[in-house]
Amino acid sequence: MIPPAAANDDTTRDFLAPVFAQYPLEVVSAEGVWLRNARGERVLDLYGGHAVAALGYGHPGWTEALTAQARSCNFQTNAIPMGVRVRAAERLVRFSGLDFTSVFFVNSGAEANENALRLAFRMTSRPHVAAVEGAFHGRTAAAAAVTWGADRWYGFPRKPFEVSFMPRGDLAAIATQVTERTAAVIVEPVQGLAGAVDLGQPYLAALRRRCDEVGALLIFDEVQCGLGRLGHPFAANL
Ligand SMILES: Cc1ncc(COP(=O)(O)O)c(C=O)c1O
Repeated sequence: MIPPAAANDDTTRDFLAPVFAQYPLEVVSAEGVWLRNARGERVLDLYGGHAVAALGYGHPGWTEALTAQARSCNFQTNAIPMGVRVRAAERLVRFSGLDFTSVFFVNSGAEANENALRLAFRMTSRPHVAAVEGAFHGRTAAAAAVTWGADRWYGFPRKPFEVSFMPRGDLAAIATQVTERTAAVIVEPVQGLAGAVDLGQPYLAALRRRCDEVGALLIFDEVQCGLGRLGHPFAANL
């Protein structure tokens, strides 16, 4: 039986699966860098929701663009051509300043990583991926397989491919773990959930060199550190 909602009680969590422990902060609205809690108090947000709110909350240009698109057409499948999608892809390629020619839009970071890993397996036909200790890449089967410490909550009976984790900054581990059996190395250039840990340019350059040596792909997961958050379009620009 569905329990009755408590009258005027919008804090009830009865309908949410109790998956995540909850912080003692109930956000009812936000503007700029400020959150407002249920008691009407302002709270300075130094977190930006995993850096998702990189422009701050309620940025007028962003809000206006979303509103205009929602009014004009809120969804069409990828199989229906839409000018706005083509323009967004072109803007992203140009913004990146990288040697990209095309974009594949997905719905989440985990999905992006799943697809990047899939490409690496298809391109190399190899069985192994090297990831870095402390990394977070998402909660789906392949993304969680390369997430450090995911065994506590992984849930699937087995990982879909071979994975090994390299200690951060350990150049010797790169040499032993990234081999001709490695389809890809996946790395957050600045690890987000690990606590904003900058792996540093020399370490990333060593990964690049070793991947080139053995013919593996190097996947930069910039879900949290990309899109201008490092002062450059992406960490890959550095
Ligand atoms: C670095 C990184 N990669 C991947 C993900 C997964 O993204 P999503 O939650 O959109 O699947 C996150 C989410 O916090 C992340 O921080």
